[in-house]
Amino acid sequence: MSSSKPKHPILFVLLLFLLASLAASQEFTYKGFGVSGAGGSPNLTLNGIAEVWPNGLLRLTNETSKLMGHAFYPAPLRFLDGNGTAVSFSTQFVVTVVPEFAQLGGHGFAFVVAPDPRLPGALPSQYLGLLSAGDLGNATNHVFAVEFDTVQDFEFGDINGNHVGVDLNSLVSNASAAADPFNLKAGDTVAWVDYDGAAGLLNVSIANATTAGTKPAKPLISFRVDLSGVFREQMYVGFSASTGLLASSHYVRGWSFRLGGGAAASLDLSSLPSLPQIKDGKNRTSLILAVAFSSFVALVVLAGAGAYGAYRYKNREIIEKWELDYGPHRFKYAELRRATRGFRERELLGAGGFGKVYRGVLPGSGETVAVKRINHESRQGLREFVAEIASIGRLRHRNLVQLQGWCRRRGDLLLVYDYMPNGSLDRHLFGDHLKASRLTWPVRHRILRDVASALLYLHEGWESVVLHRDVKASNVLLDADMSARLGDFGLAKLHERGANPSTTRVVGTLGYLAPELTRTGKATSAADVFAFGALVLEVVAGRHPIEPCAPPEELVLSEWAWERYAAGEVEKVVDSRLGGDYDAAEVAAAVKVGLWCSHPAPATRPTMREVARFLDAGEAGEVPEPPPPPPLPPAYSGEVGFDDFVHSYPSSSFERAAAVGGGWDGGTQTSVATFPFSPLSMRSSYVSV
Ligand SMILES: *[C@@H]1O[C@H](CO)[C@@H](O)[C@H](O)[C@H]1NC(C)=O
Ligand SMILES: *[C@@H]1O[C@H](CO)[C@@H](O)[C@H](O)[C@H]1NC(C)=O
Repeated sequence: MSSSKPKHPILFVLLLFLLASLAASQEFTYKGFGVSGAGGSPNLTLNGIAEVWPNGLLRLTNETSKLMGHAFYPAPLRFLDGNGTAVSFSTQFVVTVVPEFAQLGGHGFAFVVAPDPRLPGALPSQYLGLLSAGDLGNATNHVFAVEFDTVQDFEFGDINGNHVGVDLNSLVSNASAAADPFNLKAGDTVAWVDYDGAAGLLNVSIANATTAGTKPAKPLISFRVDLSGVFREQMYVGFSASTGLLASSHYVRGWSFRLGGGAAASLDLSSLPSLPQIKDGKNRTSLILAVAFSSFVALVVLAGAGAYGAYRYKNREIIEKWELDYGPHRFKYAELRRATRGFRERELLGAGGFGKVYRGVLPGSGETVAVKRINHESRQGLREFVAEIASIGRLRHRNLVQLQGWCRRRGDLLLVYDYMPNGSLDRHLFGDHLKASRLTWPVRHRILRDVASALLYLHEGWESVVLHRDVKASNVLLDADMSARLGDFGLAKLHERGANPSTTRVVGTLGYLAPELTRTGKATSAADVFAFGALVLEVVAGRHPIEPCAPPEELVLSEWAWERYAAGEVEKVVDSRLGGDYDAAEVAAAVKVGLWCSHPAPATRPTMREVARFLDAGEAGEVPEPPPPPPLPPAYSGEVGFDDFVHSYPSSSFERAAAVGGGWDGGTQTSVATFPFSPLSMRSSYVSV
């Protein structure tokens, strides 16, 4: 406004009033996102792979894995009033999810209110294109979302794979409800989100096309919340969707929105653009008929394709039921053969009891992956493969090596993982000097915390306890920025929480094997904790848990470390290659944790939850004194037979354990010291991804 006095004061006041009311209440309706703007571009801010089709359909994602799409109303809106209170709003939208396979798709979509329509830093997959691993839960995100999630992510405590949730700055929903009986992955989802700013009440309702998109009387979610703290004054409103290992196309057919009180305009489904396979119906009946007919046709085609596929697979790549139960992507054998250049030895990253690991570059995306080819001579191969798929396929955590997919062809079993450019931890600890020099104390400390958080997730983050069974330095992989990820779940088995762990086989690696394992053969979480303790001491000391070339009193790292600790000489345990450059309090805490985890009595060891807390605290004073180990038992009598259980070892562990020869009663100094250790038997050549 100019400083000169307006010529028509009444008009001016009217104009101001008009502007003010415009600011207070704003609405828009998209019956499709047609090409309305000059220059033929849709009136939306699009990002990622989102696009508007000529018929006005907005597609947020297609069926390509691990991508995301955003679409926002182009102008910012005022979500806070003059007093800084969140303004009421109301919205209705119609979204159709078309999964890649009938019941398998991912990851879902969300209605979003955010300060930046590009959602900078956001990740696809379970992050729904909203946030990233680094900013989850931060109040500075100012992101409000209502998620329509089609995959259950245990990391975020999702209730199931078909739910609606209210997310405030995080992907751990503040309120959520199962969408049942509606299936978010099938057909249209009509949704209403209404926020009453004065009452601080958020309601979310859903319906589908067969209920003619009528808003149900009772909301699905009714959540008392004051959004004033979440919103900033200027916010953008729109949608986000993402795909993961499995993908869905997410389409938005129509959207109405109203800010400042009152209900958003009601959408008439028949006036919205349709999905390609749905022919434009003149009225609702013909639309429904068309939907029914095309689903029928699709069903027939799918059934036909399925039968044909089944026929083909019977002859070539066998698919069993469990393969469909667990999510990840199935690769074509030819694709993996090309990726690894015919499994050339030069692409070999490592080899072990279960098979070889190759580096590969996927022909389509150019993405580097690690391909683990399971020995088909291995009698256990298939079983291990099933176990690995079953557990890994559903586990997601930033400190676990992510399984991307698999392939099976005759005797060949192939697993595809994220490639970890820095290889395994043992190569850094015991490799050349250049590699070890990257393992500064802060890096080592973070690696330990990363592995602890992965194990905590396996033990407690899931509806059933997942035991790793083979925690060791060669199973800790390092990504580009030296963050650690725990890999190789080939040996992991699922145990129902509370049920008796099965006692079938002893698995593990010498030096990390808890003593009770050799007696009972029962894998437990305490045995994982023991192995983690061995890893902690290994990382602090830069020495193998059992050092065959060391003088007898230093042979077993944990026992030697205990002696040094008891003598008040913790610093003697620390890797001399650190050159004294470390945080003494953190090292002392880590040594205490390592010793405590290494206690021979399983019940005495801490849980992974306690371990993670102690390592995070960092202050030596906050970690209680580890209980001293009992006096060493008399020398091995030969009655409890090592040979009795050694026969039930699976190949990799058997070979290494067998190479030790003689009897071994599980790591007490007296007996172990008398065995003919060869460096070969200790050196883990089993580099897994
Ligand atoms: C596009 O949206 C903006 C933001 O509200 C609006 O000002 C503009 O008139 C719209 N343009 C068209 C062509 O619809
Ligand atoms: C999905 O979109 C991306 C980016 O536009 C494209 O590269 C990819 O080929 C598309 N995938 C499919 C299955 O259409």
